Amino acid sequence: MSARGEFSSRIGFIMAAAGSAVGLGNIWGFPTNVADNGGGAFVFVYIILTFLLAYPILMAELTIGRYSRSNMVDGLAKISSGAKSRHAGHWVGTWALIVASLILAFYSIVAGWMLAYGLEAVSSMLGLERFSTWLTGFGTTRNIIFCAVFACLTVGIIRGGVSDGIEKWSTRLMPILLVIIVLLIGYVATLDGASEGWRVYLFPDFARTLNPDLLIAAMGQAFFSLSLGVGTMFIYGSYIPSDQNLPALGASVTVVDIGVAILAGLLVIPAMYVAQHNGVQIYSESGELLAGDTLIFTVLPALFETMGAAGNFVAIAFFALMTIAALTSSISMLEVPVCYAIERYDISRHGATWIVAGMIFLASCVIILNFDALFGFVVDFTTRYSEPMLGLLLCIFAGWVWRRDILLSELAQGHPDIEQSLFWKIWPSYVRFVCPLLIALVFYQSVFG
Ligand code: TRP
Repeated sequence: MSARGEFSSRIGFIMAAAGSAVGLGNIWGFPTNVADNGGGAFVFVYIILTFLLAYPILMAELTIGRYSRSNMVDGLAKISSGAKSRHAGHWVGTWALIVASLILAFYSIVAGWMLAYGLEAVSSMLGLERFSTWLTGFGTTRNIIFCAVFACLTVGIIRGGVSDGIEKWSTRLMPILLVIIVLLIGYVATLDGASEGWRVYLFPDFARTLNPDLLIAAMGQAFFSLSLGVGTMFIYGSYIPSDQNLPALGASVTVVDIGVAILAGLLVIPAMYVAQHNGVQIYSESGELLAGDTLIFTVLPALFETMGAAGNFVAIAFFALMTIAALTSSISMLEVPVCYAIERYDISRHGATWIVAGMIFLASCVIILNFDALFGFVVDFTTRYSEPMLGLLLCIFAGWVWRRDILLSELAQGHPDIEQSLFWKIWPSYVRFVCPLLIALVFYQSVFG
């Protein structure tokens, strides 16, 4: 086996990649988008776009990653035969690396808030009122401290490497996440008001499904949720042993990701209606459902407050859920620049992890200190513009730059009878023609439409 590290089992990879995919994007972003975009209509479009656009790109990343057995900067260059495309591959990979680091920079700020709110539930049980107020106030010191704590958790796992860090911790944390989410859904379902939420969530208003805003939001959500474009899945792909069936692995990860998003909706949307039943405001002045940070940090805490003694425990469980989801994702983001640093500069994993994490933490601090100017900007630059563009470029590399026969033989590894599969018949041309076009179309709509 190479010194690069490998996932030790099929299930280990699925846990790690699903851990990357399942994150704040599922538990916060998805329900928020549902609340913003007409309930079930969004769910419907999101599922379709995930299979139509996100899964094929996930497969491009996994396949090129496994073939090249390297980070995305070197990997894209490796599959290019001409000097020009090699050069382009290098730049695309570098852009991806920067975007991955910037996503981690804002993601760990948000994850820090989850830690703070979870701790607040403990401190309010202990009656430490001033501490509680500090924890939930939007202070610079609080933001920096909790971001740092979260960054240290991420470093602690990534230092361990592929099988002893990423795989081990994902395999431990993902089942805990599932148990917490199912318990919370069950509990919230018993409360008055929940059934109204189930209705809004499960019965789509089909009239809204073709709304361009909804399409763009759903594509962004699908890309972000499957961790696409920035080399995360590329690198996880590079750690998959050659005897594994890639299309099946990719499909499992996609299904788990969608599944957890839907579960999160079953939790958060009914919880909002329980909150309303308990007297908490869930609609804005203009009649829209409250979403975004108001939903997570105002509506839900207000709901927990109305639950009496049980409220603190529910709050702890909820924010633990958020923290776990964030952690298994943040490790996958940190692995992108860490893997690059190890392979490029030939330094130890230990050293690379601390240096890279330190740099990203500095970026987080810059964002925190200029929050109003930078936070939204970084989120938009990375998730709204860069991820779809990088996804499109990945399709071009997989479909046009890479030699078709090598791509096909890589896919056939670990899947001897692939030639009979639908995947083999559709995907290679699909990723070449249809995907780039679809992304370009939605992208054009979102930027210029
Ligand atoms: N998919 C994760 C979520 O839903 C976030 C994430 C992890 C991510 N790695 C990524 C997003 C890489 C974009 C790119 O929260």
